[in-house]
Amino acid sequence: MGRIREPHGAPVLLVVSFLLSALCFSQAKSELRSSALLGDPLLANLSACHHSFTDANRPAYCCPPRRDIDQRLVQFDLSKLSQTQKRVRRAVHHLDADFIAKYQKAVAIMKSLPSDHPHSFFRQANNHCLYCTGSYDQVNSSSLFKIHRSWLFFPWHRAFLFFHERILGKLIGDETFALPYWSWDTPEGMQIPEIFARGVLSDGERDEAHLPPTIANLNYNKEASVRPSDEQVKVNLAFMHKQMVSGAKKRELFLGCKVTAGEEGFCDGPGTVEGAPHNTLHSWVGSGVNPEREDMGAFYSAAKDPIFYAHHSNIDRLWEVWKELREGKDADFEEHAWLESAFTFYDENLRFVRIKVRDLLDTHKLGYEYEEIPLPWVNAKPKPTASSAASIKKRKSGSLLSRRAVMEKERALVSSVTFEVYRPKRGRSKEEKEREEEIIVVEGIRVKRDVYAKFDVFVNLGAEEEKIAGPLVREFAGSFVNTPHGSRRIGETEGKMGKKGTTLKLGISELLDDLGADEDESIWVSLVPRGGSGVFMTVDGVRIEFLR
Ligand code: C2O
Repeated sequence: MGRIREPHGAPVLLVVSFLLSALCFSQAKSELRSSALLGDPLLANLSACHHSFTDANRPAYCCPPRRDIDQRLVQFDLSKLSQTQKRVRRAVHHLDADFIAKYQKAVAIMKSLPSDHPHSFFRQANNHCLYCTGSYDQVNSSSLFKIHRSWLFFPWHRAFLFFHERILGKLIGDETFALPYWSWDTPEGMQIPEIFARGVLSDGERDEAHLPPTIANLNYNKEASVRPSDEQVKVNLAFMHKQMVSGAKKRELFLGCKVTAGEEGFCDGPGTVEGAPHNTLHSWVGSGVNPEREDMGAFYSAAKDPIFYAHHSNIDRLWEVWKELREGKDADFEEHAWLESAFTFYDENLRFVRIKVRDLLDTHKLGYEYEEIPLPWVNAKPKPTASSAASIKKRKSGSLLSRRAVMEKERALVSSVTFEVYRPKRGRSKEEKEREEEIIVVEGIRVKRDVYAKFDVFVNLGAEEEKIAGPLVREFAGSFVNTPHGSRRIGETEGKMGKKGTTLKLGISELLDDLGADEDESIWVSLVPRGGSGVFMTVDGVRIEFLR
């Protein structure tokens, strides 16, 4: 952990806040009420579906009708899956008129089913609401079962789409029906696709300013400035490179933190792509005149917009692409707690099934695959700015503030802060770097009032460039994005999970090589708040770690 520099002033020692956070941690442990063991998988307690809260802490209710709960739960059996011909998910911009008509028909039928039918569009959308707002407790625990911001994100959404797709196919009697994907990671897909503008696939609750021909900002924040289209495309590709390649060298960085059962197993750390473009595009699509940018902008309502499924089809595809880019090496976690965590859905034959994460790791066994398209971001790595080296020298001559000054002031990210962070290891060999990724750990991020908030992280960037720099400079290490996620339970006044705060981990081995900083004893890490949201955020500190 290191010295900290005020935006236009001096570095400060930052030690005390770490002691404080350690204190909070032990308090949380003594409050444990759950009997779940640390490291257990997450299972939902289906006997009690309850009221929950939306992302902005407004009451929500998305439970199925009572009679469903008494239904027999069957274990999903991958080996018995009947799928003679593969379903091929294609890019939305490659769909032909026949397919579009078929897709519209399937969704129209789904929307016409009575709202208590498990295959109805209403119930399908509520499936997402159930597991994202915390309508179920975990088995043997009073903790909520939630599927965002951790390693459950990719598998849960894969399972959701898997059943949704098979149900749609069943409704039109087509065993090969496959959901299309919205390839917002390629220039052809960077607008809201045409087919979602009309008829059953449209949704009135979208941001008017973001309809075509507006190019999506994959790293969107509410107050982001609008760029010319061709520049936005470039920024998007550089950003994808960061999220998929240079910043995602380890599975924890890509898939998210290791949440396990019970209060003590809680974690809050989305993987690169979940944070953005996933979260950011949800906000970008949703309507700015609604309180939570509904539909897409809030998880409780997101799946009511048909574009949700194409958005997630692309997310699911990118999981596959990420695996392929690393040739499957260390791609899946091996922890029992991950493999045995399970979710429930209705299948296409109206059986209520429980599916485990271990059954969700091979799309070919699940009977579908993705049409391959070019990946223009694979080589879209940006260049360092020229002033990077000069600015390090300037910073090193700064003077120190006293420790007390830090303690007295709540460290809100009102403006940017820069930490000098010492590096425990330097100049490692190529093999070492492959084995262990050097990461920036931003610890104890707390967002007051659970609002939308965002900061960007840069390494060795000149102070002059902070305001305008983004994914297009090599110094960009990543972003922290908080979409409100309603951590409350009924009867509580605030989330009890908030104490530890969030930890942001960003891989930087390759970045340091590219900046020529791999021999340096320390680096300068800047946290730059965006969209005026810094007043709601505090952080405990920044340090370097190595991740296997
Ligand atoms: Cu569960 Cu895109 O959200």
